[in-house]
Amino acid sequence: MISAADIAALDANDPLAPFRSRFALPDGVTYLDGNSLGALPVATVDRQMAVLRDEWGQGLIRSWNSADWISSPARVGAKIARLIGAAPHEVTVADSTSVNLFKLIVGALQMQRGRHVVLSEPGNFPTDLYLIESAIRTLGGKHRLELVSRESITQHLSDDTALVLLTHVHYKTADLYDMADITGAAQRAGALMLWDLSHSAGAVPLDLTEAHADFAVGCGYKFLNGGPGAPAYLYVAERHQAHIQSPLGGWMGHARPFAFDDGYEPAPGIARFLCGTPPILSMAALESGVDLFLEADMSQVAAKSRALATLFIDLVTERCAGYGLELVGPERGAPRGSHVSFRHPEGYAIMQALIARQVIGDFRAPDVMRFGLTPLYLRYTDIAHAVDVLEEILRTRAYIAPEFHVRHAVT
Ligand SMILES: Cc1ncc(COP(=O)(O)O)c(C=O)c1O
Repeated sequence: MISAADIAALDANDPLAPFRSRFALPDGVTYLDGNSLGALPVATVDRQMAVLRDEWGQGLIRSWNSADWISSPARVGAKIARLIGAAPHEVTVADSTSVNLFKLIVGALQMQRGRHVVLSEPGNFPTDLYLIESAIRTLGGKHRLELVSRESITQHLSDDTALVLLTHVHYKTADLYDMADITGAAQRAGALMLWDLSHSAGAVPLDLTEAHADFAVGCGYKFLNGGPGAPAYLYVAERHQAHIQSPLGGWMGHARPFAFDDGYEPAPGIARFLCGTPPILSMAALESGVDLFLEADMSQVAAKSRALATLFIDLVTERCAGYGLELVGPERGAPRGSHVSFRHPEGYAIMQALIARQVIGDFRAPDVMRFGLTPLYLRYTDIAHAVDVLEEILRTRAYIAPEFHVRHAVT
């Protein structure tokens, strides 16, 4: 039996506890969706006002130079590189994760002449699979997508495999791949490896250099707290940078954008993956979120993520047994990403009832309730409160109310 005193002791001994006050969290809300849209850092508000009033308002176009807006993709990329174990010049910030996937899939397939298969898993995040299909169509249909179970990926590698694209932490289940292991197997078969780190960066330890990764992408608006629709990042290992081309060769990826040449010449390094003008307000918000993360010790973040997940699973096991909840993904104590998911036939309505009671998670069709665990601003008492509210909803069947069955556009 886990007591309130046990949980209070966990909070009292939490080395990350001071970070919570650095976020502008609404009173009374238990926020378990920071894996989908991270919370607002307090510093972001002041920084946005400074960018608006001073840099845009006063500096006007001069701020591309005087406030160094022009270097923001490289500068913010270099900061993200520290969170994912990459060298500063191997990461840049541009576009959305979807667009970056397209650029890297096409670029990688063009490096792999004579190989035709892109390997991924069924149930990968949909945009990853859709962008593989888009890339195949763009390249004239001579490639094909093979979807195989995560357990059998290495058995399906062959001398026809051009690229393996996997999401390191599964968006629904929190299943976690061994990055070095899969990357090594893919490369031994002559394939290139592209990792989607959207649910990994800022949540689990990452070392792309040690894993000898080829390519990676990830979202800025989840654990990195970059704000709704924040730009995404992409990583290209230094050894590939001179050999891969972006299919979207825009002027910001040109070797000399302000020479205004008629012909395209790619920038020598990762800057060739920029396309158009960077969104400066969003870049500034992402930079504030990343700066805050860089103050934290990633080993403490990872340890707290595991402890929050263990507590969540233990409390649900103890207090919600017999109501038909089924843990999805890794078992208690197994390696996992930083969210916990439960399946229930009434998952959508239960989540709506939770949200109505100010406990915010999300729902992933057809039946998965997902709870994001963000170590920088969640307390162990928040987990206990969320499970208490969940138990009350299940026990009283509050979720049968018609208003909880109305489907919203975003779930
Ligand atoms: C694993 C994964 N990849 C990609 C995306 C989509 O990113 P974007 O909408 O920035 O293109 C998401 C969004 O949730 C995701 O979870």
